[in-house]
Amino acid sequence: MVPTAQQFDVVIIGGGPAGYAAALRGGLAGLNIAVVEKEKVGGTCLHRGCIPAKEFLETATVYRTVNGAKEFGIAVDTPTVEFAQSQARKQKVVDQLWKGLQGLMKKRKVTTFIGTGSLGADHVVRVDDGTELVGTHVILASGSVPRSIPGFDVDGDLILTSDEILDLERLPASAVVIGGGAIGCEFASMLSDLGTQVTILEALPKILPGCDKDVADVVVRSFKRRGIELRTGVQVTGHTPNQDRSSTTVSFGEGERITVDAVVLSVGRRPLSENLGLEGTQVGVDKRGFVEVDEFMRTAEPGVFAAGDLVDTPALAHVGFAEAVVIIDQILGEQVVPVDYTKVPWCIYCHPEVAFAGWSEEAAVEGGYEVVTKKDPYGGNGRALIVGEPEGMVKVICEKGPDGKAGRILGVHMVGPWVTEQLGQGYLSVNWEATPDEVAHYIQPHPTLSETFGETVLALTGRGLHVG
Ligand code: NAI
Repeated sequence: MVPTAQQFDVVIIGGGPAGYAAALRGGLAGLNIAVVEKEKVGGTCLHRGCIPAKEFLETATVYRTVNGAKEFGIAVDTPTVEFAQSQARKQKVVDQLWKGLQGLMKKRKVTTFIGTGSLGADHVVRVDDGTELVGTHVILASGSVPRSIPGFDVDGDLILTSDEILDLERLPASAVVIGGGAIGCEFASMLSDLGTQVTILEALPKILPGCDKDVADVVVRSFKRRGIELRTGVQVTGHTPNQDRSSTTVSFGEGERITVDAVVLSVGRRPLSENLGLEGTQVGVDKRGFVEVDEFMRTAEPGVFAAGDLVDTPALAHVGFAEAVVIIDQILGEQVVPVDYTKVPWCIYCHPEVAFAGWSEEAAVEGGYEVVTKKDPYGGNGRALIVGEPEGMVKVICEKGPDGKAGRILGVHMVGPWVTEQLGQGYLSVNWEATPDEVAHYIQPHPTLSETFGETVLALTGRGLHVG
């Protein structure tokens, strides 16, 4: 006999950023919440994505810094990479955050069920161990997995995705990175800095599609200078491993070949919707596997919501957090504002870092705006020279006003030192639809990297101090 189903205010399938944020916010508000998670709470972001990837990128930064120490008058022996130690440190950071998250969920009285959950009629969620849960509301947040391409079977050894590369104990001497998006550029940057000979193969005419061209060009120049081979506009046709599978020859373009020790696939991610059940519900799934939702994250089944990488919105942890807030606040009967996906912050942690919010110049023009733009390079910023990172710039894109001057700020795009930490002011400017005059009024501390943003908006008022 099936035991009586356990009743909750909210049952959440998936304990990644979207799922656990909903659980934490709901738990804090006194809702009785269940989370069904097939592996570990924290999801891709904590265990196979943002956190471990950025930890390794920090390892690369430390290595670059030590290598460049001589310029600062610090003598060091030739540094060597002990990747197993980096791996151990990464795991320590991940485990600490995982422990903290579990503790927080417990404190908010969230009940976690370990297993795969699927949704049936009447809001019944079945865990694969037979447990049945019923939620007054249900949130689908089962996330995404890396995509592969035909002929490239992921074996964790020769052919890797972001999942496998984060578990390596030693780095390959050479690698092809297929796909030059955010994930591809982050891994290419990290691997190259730590000594791997890297080639990026990208199908589109440029890497970092979606980024402002001026920003992407800075990354391209830096990558090339550091010895990363960049091949854009090329199709990958297959690969042939050597006999002992210690290397493989990748075929691409017009009969070109390259032999490498590893292939990193970073050709996007796909929603993980195939195990969700959904029979007897009105939840819609589109051709690409995304669960269909409206701007309030509601599926077609009353009381069932979806969020995070499972829905067709930017696949970013912080977007998942924001969508979770939209859902829980609705459940609490509060007034909610949907997420404005055209203005979310984007941060890419390759070297040099990229950060932006709002329209790129190309997208703004394509969208029908007449624009006024201004760029200020970090090369003139005192702090950037002090820290030895003068590469990069801030670019601000404004709507042209009736007087021909810069009006509402449409986009702020940055590339260079610590820009992922500097985007805040740009993000607020874009989302408040501020004008350069309004923003330029505020003082930037000196000497800081953020002065470059301040100078750019000041220049847009026509009265820049250092920038014309
Ligand atoms: P992506 O969709 O951003 O980039 C994939 C790239 O691969 C594209 O440029 C595409 O043209 C190229 N591509 C696809 N098939 C190809 C083929 N057969 N040969 C050559 N090139 C091919 O996907 P990515 O970088 O894998 O990231 C997945 C998701 O994760 C994205 O939505 C991204 O926003 C998110 N993410 C964001 C990060 C960040 O913001 N720091 C970090 C990691 C992931």
